[in-house]
Amino acid sequence: MTNTEHPSRQTRQQVIDKNLSDSVKARRCAALAVMDVTANGRALELALAETEDYSKLEARDRAFARAIAATVFRRSGQIKAVLKPLVRKPPTAPVKAVLQTAVAQIVFMDVSPHAAVSETVDVLKASKSTLGFANFANAVLRRVVEQGRHTAAATPPKANIPGWIRGEWERSYGKIPMTKIAVQLIKDPVLDISVAHDHAGMGRKDMAEATGGTPIGQQTLRLSSIGDVTALPGFDEGSWWAQDLAAAQPAQILMSQFKDVKDVRVLDMCAAPGGKTLQLASAGMDVTAVDKSSGRLKRLEENLERTKLKATIVRSDALDFDAEPFQAVLLDAPCSATGTFRRHPDVLHNRNPKSVADLVRLQDKLLPKAAALTAPGGVLIYAVCSLQPDEGMPRIVKFLETSPDFRLIPLSALPGLDLPQERFEGGVVRTLPCDLAKSGGLDGFFIAALRREG
Ligand SMILES: C[S@@+](CC[C@H](N)C(=O)[O-])C[C@H]1O[C@@H](n2cnc3c(N)ncnc32)[C@H](O)[C@@H]1O
Repeated sequence: MTNTEHPSRQTRQQVIDKNLSDSVKARRCAALAVMDVTANGRALELALAETEDYSKLEARDRAFARAIAATVFRRSGQIKAVLKPLVRKPPTAPVKAVLQTAVAQIVFMDVSPHAAVSETVDVLKASKSTLGFANFANAVLRRVVEQGRHTAAATPPKANIPGWIRGEWERSYGKIPMTKIAVQLIKDPVLDISVAHDHAGMGRKDMAEATGGTPIGQQTLRLSSIGDVTALPGFDEGSWWAQDLAAAQPAQILMSQFKDVKDVRVLDMCAAPGGKTLQLASAGMDVTAVDKSSGRLKRLEENLERTKLKATIVRSDALDFDAEPFQAVLLDAPCSATGTFRRHPDVLHNRNPKSVADLVRLQDKLLPKAAALTAPGGVLIYAVCSLQPDEGMPRIVKFLETSPDFRLIPLSALPGLDLPQERFEGGVVRTLPCDLAKSGGLDGFFIAALRREG
């Protein structure tokens, strides 16, 4: 599974690799990425991109590798339940990852079980470190073909959520919502796009007609399958960008605080890759977009170019950024992103209580900095795409304790969205992925709006 073996062995490895089909390589990429996410806390997309074969594979095989690895994380508890009675001794990390990817295919994906078993065995045979487990895996996977679906069906979806996260969600949102949230994790996610206002390209109505999508909220169009987004109408013209329905709300709330947003100076403080910058710029606001990641800012630049929208881009640590105070500041703070699990199921597996605590400390520094950059009378929006309670209301309570100039702007509805009243408890917004479940749910977000009075 690794390519760090002795040079003469590497040559042998190259010969073996040459004989591997692309579908075996895709399966191997998936297993390597699963191992990397689990052991090193890396994001799945990065882990896949760093496997040796991934970039050389056709788009179809890359998508296959991604789907296998995502299914491992989406179905982690059920996969564990399937393997438990069949694997007595804990296997090595590479063998475990390969078995997990095989169960994902056999039990949960539309893949020939025969191909899944034989190509998984080929993955193990292709590396000296796993070669000895090929027969064992073959025997285990034959049993998975016989009984895996039955075991998986008998295991409740909440088993797929790591215990510490499940505990926090149950305590914060209740047992029944927790069960409903778990059901969202195993569903195929919908694709939400935000359609630009007053764009020379296609408007939301044209886009709905061209794609069969459903308008929802103020500027979102919901499509049932993801596929290749760049092939959708209006992509090249820059009429829209992919953005979850919940992720579109912080900028909507910000804009709703102004009679006329045209030319209002707004700071998007952690802006990349720019979904919210695009919303603000498309409404005619004068946007300064700050982010410290040059890689992510590059994507923001590409997004602005494609949509023909304008913003001033600044690469800086937000804590070091200085400028004349703004009439509005949007702090879409770095967070655990556990609310985005519908499209990124790995976030439930590469986070831990310590990483959340580190992010909370950063959020507690960024909020006062955002406040210092908000002009008197101005609006400050704090948002996180996290479901972890600590990253939400306690941050606002702590901030307000030491910021007498600021008060909460109470929020009680989101236009065009039929959310339960308890999602606005305390005058803030807390969306849960099980909300609007019939139409596909939405990401878990926490949003608070504040005004600077003094
Ligand atoms: C939740 S994401 C922002 C998503 C973005 N607002 C959007 O809608 O596309 C958080 C961003 O914060 C950036 N970030 C993290 N720490 C930062 C810091 N100290 N200063 C500036 N940006 C930071 C990350 O690079 C990341 O792009």
